[in-house]
Amino acid sequence: MRKPVIAANWKMNKTHVEAILFVEALRNLVDAEHLDKVEVVICPPFTAIRSVQTAIDSDGLGFGLGAQDLHWEESGAYTGEVSAQMLRKLHVGYAIVGHSERRQHFGETNETVNKKVKAALAADVVPIVCVGESLEEREAGDTESKVKTQIAEGLEGIKGDRLEATIVAYEPIWAIGTGKNASPEDAQETIAAIRSAISSLDKKVAAKVRIQYGGSVKSSNIAELMAQPDIDGALVGGASLDAGEFAGICRFETESE
Ligand code: PGA
Repeated sequence: MRKPVIAANWKMNKTHVEAILFVEALRNLVDAEHLDKVEVVICPPFTAIRSVQTAIDSDGLGFGLGAQDLHWEESGAYTGEVSAQMLRKLHVGYAIVGHSERRQHFGETNETVNKKVKAALAADVVPIVCVGESLEEREAGDTESKVKTQIAEGLEGIKGDRLEATIVAYEPIWAIGTGKNASPEDAQETIAAIRSAISSLDKKVAAKVRIQYGGSVKSSNIAELMAQPDIDGALVGGASLDAGEFAGICRFETESE
């Protein structure tokens, strides 16, 4: 069974003080019973990682800690960058790689994604690899070929246990921050295509790889998305900034009962 993973991508939001207040609020809304069924990961900006780590470690509840990016080298003359080893030392267990905003604004390519995925895995950090099509690509009928290329190139050379540990997030670019999520059926169809692309990398583990949906996920649409057979969680932007709303997403199972 694939354990669902719900991750909060705060993007460039929240100071370290706001981050601590969020974790304190969240721990009153999501308990150990929920965390048995769902992995919950918080990805703050770098400046709040240490504070969130301290808050998470002290409550022992089991929230995961993630970064929003990393560099592929261990150390060196890369001004402004942070390595997987530095993150691991802060108990960071996950790192978002290749988010469409990084591809669009910061020149991220499938090639740099691949280097970052390898660096993360080598440091025992689970990469959350983002793929997805633009509106023009969707309208031109290129969704499948786009995500398949992103998987083939971004995860090139990753197989076995390392592939099994990797999380993929399908995020149609037109659904990010727009309030307009993909329909559960459309998301399922593309995610099934992603799983088949993963099986070209390693047939044996494709069924075990967790694939999230991302793009305007809210507490009101999470249950129908999670009801799809290949959707194993969500990468949540805007709705993850409010502890109450994010908790509603994390508790999708009990909420929908
Ligand atoms: P959104 O962002 O939930 O605000 O649409 C998702 C993401 O970019 O990961």
